[in-house]
Parts: sequence; C-alpha cells; structure tokens
Amino acid sequence: MRVLLFTGKGGVGKTTVAAATAVHAARSGVKTLVASADAAHSLADGLGLPLGPDPVEIEPGLSAVHVDARARGERSWRAVQEYLIGVLDTLGVDPLAAEELTVLPGAEEVLALLEIRDLVARADHDLVVVDCAPSAETLRLLPEALHRYLEASLPVERRVLRAMATGARAARGGVPRPRDHVVEAAERLHAELTGVREVLAGPDTSVRLVLTPEAMVIAEARRTLTALALYGYTVDGVVANRLMPADGEDGWRSGWARAQAHRLVEAEVAFHPAPVLRLGYAAGEPIGPDALAELGADLYGPDAVPGLLAPPGAALRLRVEREDDEFVLVLPMPDADRSEMSLARIGDDLAVQVAGHRRLLSLPSGLRRCTVVGARLAGGALRVRFRPDPTLWRVP
Ligand SMILES: Nc1ncnc2c1ncn2[C@@H]1O[C@H](COP(=O)(O)OP(=O)(O)OP(=O)(O)O)[C@@H](O)[C@H]1O
Ligand SMILES: [Mg+2]
Repeated sequence: MRVLLFTGKGGVGKTTVAAATAVHAARSGVKTLVASADAAHSLADGLGLPLGPDPVEIEPGLSAVHVDARARGERSWRAVQEYLIGVLDTLGVDPLAAEELTVLPGAEEVLALLEIRDLVARADHDLVVVDCAPSAETLRLLPEALHRYLEASLPVERRVLRAMATGARAARGGVPRPRDHVVEAAERLHAELTGVREVLAGPDTSVRLVLTPEAMVIAEARRTLTALALYGYTVDGVVANRLMPADGEDGWRSGWARAQAHRLVEAEVAFHPAPVLRLGYAAGEPIGPDALAELGADLYGPDAVPGLLAPPGAALRLRVEREDDEFVLVLPMPDADRSEMSLARIGDDLAVQVAGHRRLLSLPSGLRRCTVVGARLAGGALRVRFRPDPTLWRVP
C-alpha cells in the first residue's frame, strides 16, 4: 500500500490536488482512501459531498474521511494533559494559563495523523491520500512533539526526574508524581507517535509539495523540502498548480504565463531530481469527483496511475551533525565526483553544482546564522562545515 501526503503553503491547492489524485487513482482501478488531516476540513467541499469521521465509500473504489482529531485527543492526550496541568498548578501557574500551556502545539494535526496511521494499519486500501495542514507543520511537529512534550513530561529519564525534583524544591507543595494511568497514557501516546513516524518516514510513504509558481510560495516550499529531508521524509514530486495558459492575446494573461514560466524553471532547479508536475488553471472551480478526475488525468496523464513519481533514492536526504563547536551538513551524494563539484553559499541557500547540474538547497534554519568554513566529499557524502557566526547572532 502507498501513502501519499500532500502539503504546501496555504491556499495553493493541496486539497484539490489530493482529491484529484485520489479520484483519478480510484477510477484507474486502485482502491483508494482520501483523508483530510487538516483541521480546516475542506475535502468535503472539494468533493461536493458530506464527509464524517468514519470513511464512507463515495464511488466504487473510493472512500473519503474527515479525521476527527478532537475525539482522538480526548482519548490519547487528556490524561497526560491533566497531569501536566496539576504539575503547573503546584508550580503556581494560573490554571487557565496551564490549560493553554499543555495544549500540544499542532495537536489536532498530530492526532489526526494517529488516526491516519490506524486507517493505514487497517490496510483495506491500496492507496491512502492525505490532505495535510499547510507546509507540513504537522510533519515537522511530529519529532518535535515527541521530544519536547512526551519525553519531557514522561518521567522515565533520570534527567527529567532530576529536573522535576529541582522544580519540586522550588515549588511550595512539591510536584505530584504522575499516577500509573498517566504514565501509561503518555507511554501509549509515545508509542503511537513513533508508529506514525514509522509509517510516514517509511518506504511506502511519500510527500508531494503543492505550489503555485510564485516567488514566495516556492521559497516556502523549498524550506519545507529541507525540513522534511532533515526528518527523513521522502518528497517524490512537486505539483505546480494553477498555471496560466500561454496562448491568448490578453496581455494580463500572457504576462502571468511568462512570469510563471520563469518561476517554473526556478522550481525545476530547486526540486531536482524530484519531478515538477504541471497543472493548469481550470476554467472553473474544480468541485465534485468528475471535475477532480479531469484534473487528475491532466496531472498524471489519462492512463497513468499516480504511484511513486520518483524513486525513493532520488529524494533529498540530509542531516546535521555536531562536531565540537561546528555543525556539519551531510548531503549523501553517492555518485558525486570531486573534480566535477563546486559549492557556493548564496544567502540562506547553498548552491551545489554536481556534474553540470546545479542544486540550490535552502539551508536548515539553524545553519543560516553560521558561516561555511569548509567542505569535503567523503564516504559518498558531501560534508559542509558551518561555524556559528557571532556577528550574525548579535541583536542590533
Ligand atoms: N488547478 C486549479 N484550477 C482552478 N481552481 C483551482 C485549482 N486548484 C485549486 N483551485 C481552487 O483554488 C482554491 C484553493 O484550493 P484548495 O482549497 O485546494 O487549496 P488548499 O491549499 O487546500 O487551501 P488551504 O491551505 O486553505 O487548505 C479552491 O477554490 C480550489 O477550487
Ligand atoms: Mg485545503
């Protein structure tokens, strides 16, 4: 079974493209489920059909669901949250503020992904298409949420226990020890989120970035690509949506078409080797399965099933390692040859030229305030060394 996640900046057409992909796949004979994990559910509007928290078959081979994250949250998070509120209360935090502080950031979307994982686990579909929240916030949050909230709130580590003991001394009455059911709930949630990550970063899942060919949208998509690559997600394709037709006398239209063509070239460079698929601006709002099927056929080709667009090996992979007071950005490049490689730092980007092809990488945010101090090819990877630059950290 494949899982396809669609994300991108707000309003670029994520829901439309996800739904179009699902309808097209289903009508090509692939048993498909399309799920909305975005708290602002608009999948039903796109399909023009009512949807709820249980999958419903909307036509042969196609089911759709609006994931209910809130109910999931009550089941999975409430026990932990109540405990945390209790801890904050003993530390003298106002109960209202405590309630606010213990809301998992992006909880709705993260919890929505738990539901998605369960749907995937039920495995009665060949393809699960997920309409995600804007710019993969959820996917980025997943490891963050894991580390910051669960490990910090679950007293399994001595470090945490120590921190709590210190906090307890500072507090008037001492910090309550979590009761068994709280620990159990936190452990269960931890295991579930780990399971979600396994599904999302696994070999059968890929992310597609939806964008419109505009400077700001592409810039955000590039940052998202870097963040996703850092977390080990596979981005197998990009959908450039709402393209203006190049023909026509109208100066306004041809002006847009020219500007978009220019941006498309930029996108091809930025996302290479992931393919940039093109989707025209439909003459009307694509609402309902038939209009969406038409878009899907335009996007993938009438006979093509929207499976994996690029082999997983082609996906951008990167990691950041710590070496003394430096950071090393590691970019796996198994086939690169030192003699044909060049490297340049351009603002927040790193331009890597390999065998005549230029790749422009948006730097992970932690490295933007560092200067490049060296680079080498070793063990099939490009290793670029960064040193924090104090002049870039100074507050004016
Ligand atoms: N190729 C297209 N041709 C014509 N209209 C389109 C196309 N793609 C999207 N639209 C329209 O653009 C609007 C925004 O699309 P959509 O809701 O899919 O974006 P989104 O990225 O999911 O937005 P949000 O960030 O709010 O979830 C909708 O009215 C949709 O019908
Ligand atoms: Mg949407």
